[in-house]
Amino acid sequence: MKTLHLNSQDNNAIKTAAEILKNGGLVAIPTETVYGLAANALDGEAVKKIFIAKGRPNDNPLIVHVSSLEEIEPLVEKVDPRLYELAEKYWPGPLTVILKKSALIPNEVSPNLDTVALRMPSHECARKIIRAAGVPLAAPSANSSGRPSPTKASHVVEDLDGKIDAIVDGGESDVGVESTVVTLATDPPTLLRPGGITPEQLTEVLGEIQISSAVYEKLKEGEKVQSPGMKYKHYAPSAQVTIIKGSFEQYKRFLLAQKDKVCAVCFEGEGVHFENYIEYGKENDDASQAHKIFDALREVDATNCKRAFVRCPVSSGVGLAVYNRLLRSAAFRVIDLDIKIPVIGLTGQTGAGKTTVAAMLKDKNYAIIDTDLLAREAVKSPEVIGMLCEKFGNDIIKDGILDRRELARRAFATKEGSLALNEITHPEITRLAVEEIHKAHENGAKAAVIDAALLFDSCLTAFCDKTVSVIAPEDERLERIIKRDGLSAADAKLRINAQPPAEYYIEKADIIINNGANDDLSSQLSQI
Ligand code: TXA
Ligand code: MG
Repeated sequence: MKTLHLNSQDNNAIKTAAEILKNGGLVAIPTETVYGLAANALDGEAVKKIFIAKGRPNDNPLIVHVSSLEEIEPLVEKVDPRLYELAEKYWPGPLTVILKKSALIPNEVSPNLDTVALRMPSHECARKIIRAAGVPLAAPSANSSGRPSPTKASHVVEDLDGKIDAIVDGGESDVGVESTVVTLATDPPTLLRPGGITPEQLTEVLGEIQISSAVYEKLKEGEKVQSPGMKYKHYAPSAQVTIIKGSFEQYKRFLLAQKDKVCAVCFEGEGVHFENYIEYGKENDDASQAHKIFDALREVDATNCKRAFVRCPVSSGVGLAVYNRLLRSAAFRVIDLDIKIPVIGLTGQTGAGKTTVAAMLKDKNYAIIDTDLLAREAVKSPEVIGMLCEKFGNDIIKDGILDRRELARRAFATKEGSLALNEITHPEITRLAVEEIHKAHENGAKAAVIDAALLFDSCLTAFCDKTVSVIAPEDERLERIIKRDGLSAADAKLRINAQPPAEYYIEKADIIINNGANDDLSSQLSQI
């Protein structure tokens, strides 16, 4: 299908768009929140086409857009007086209200529900098109399902060109995130999706409201590991997104410690510190962040980075909507770098006695975080499993459980395979390590110790206040490994040779602990 590109400034654009809609076609229209993909809301067949063009799950209901209050009455079972109160204050504008629907609403609009979502957009062009079409318009955001919502006509072109009848370019969407959705069908009313109208503004009119848990938490059904390819992602670029809480200094240190090419999604003026960056709005200005966030998420992929780290937005006002969208694009992955206890990175040569040192620190009320255990934990995450399956084949899952031996067999067969395994698991290990540090603080530990064989090859050093290397003479280490692991002298030697030399550990660490037969460990620990 050839998609007609119209400009809202052109004389005939509104008329042409309205004609297409009246004839059961699809037109992407600008609104003040995001671009919408519109069809005649009273024509079930036309509405069906929306789901096909977007690749949208059939059971996700659509919002019906009107241009005046008079259009509401026929669409609902009974007009709730609170709707008029809300409308008086916030319509036209970024607010959607859900009420019991009338028989006029075809099932396709809100499949298997007895309600309908209603909104009167404030964008002049959107209102003119609704008026000219003479019917209410069902319109979800005009993106391919799962992608960031479109705030420019060019975003719609990226996703839907060739799949819909026309796109009307009406400039950049002002608000930048989708409307606030509130339902009056519950008591008290429930905020289902935060947006341009804040919870405080709703309370002003409605009194008490409840906030749906889905605003902050992922859906329960997604927590099962049954289907590896399953995604909680929404609004997501191809790159993996992680939200980073904490100061800019903490963010910067963490990003600069990453070993692979990553994209910084940060606030205005911060980008210069990074090789790849996209800025979205000003640090303390929620409206500017909302305006730019979807565009920024779309730009991430142009940097060719596999991972993006987003500075956490303010979470009040419209910022709540920005945070909510980011949580979804990040599949709920958040790292809080605002760490409240000292963190020590502990590493060392094999057989040098890193574990002994860890045990002694544990006796002093230091929490020990064993990254080997975290690595086992990391491969339980559904998202990690999904990525592992994509890379190494779906049959690494046997009876719904990850077969770790099979995974190891495939991954370690080639150098490329082991690198890929690390690339997939390390970010999750890092996230878990930070979580453990926060837990250690809550549990009253004096400090947290990250025990990691590959400490200096990881980004974990970014939150270590001090790093410690444990070393010992080679002959003693050899003897210990033979005894501890029941290896032959030759195999033990191989293992030792696979690691970097002592100089590597000495050069990189702040503190060196010598653990030869004649060294006194406890006196050396006082350095820590
Ligand atoms: O700002 C906006 O709301 C944009 C512009 C185009 O108006 N539209 C938009 O539509 O964001 P969409 O389809 O991407 O999101 C509609 C949201 C979905 O989360 C949907 O589940 C919810 O509204 N929704 C629609 N009708 C509903 C109903 N009857 N009950 C519960 N939720 C409903
Ligand atoms: Mg949408």
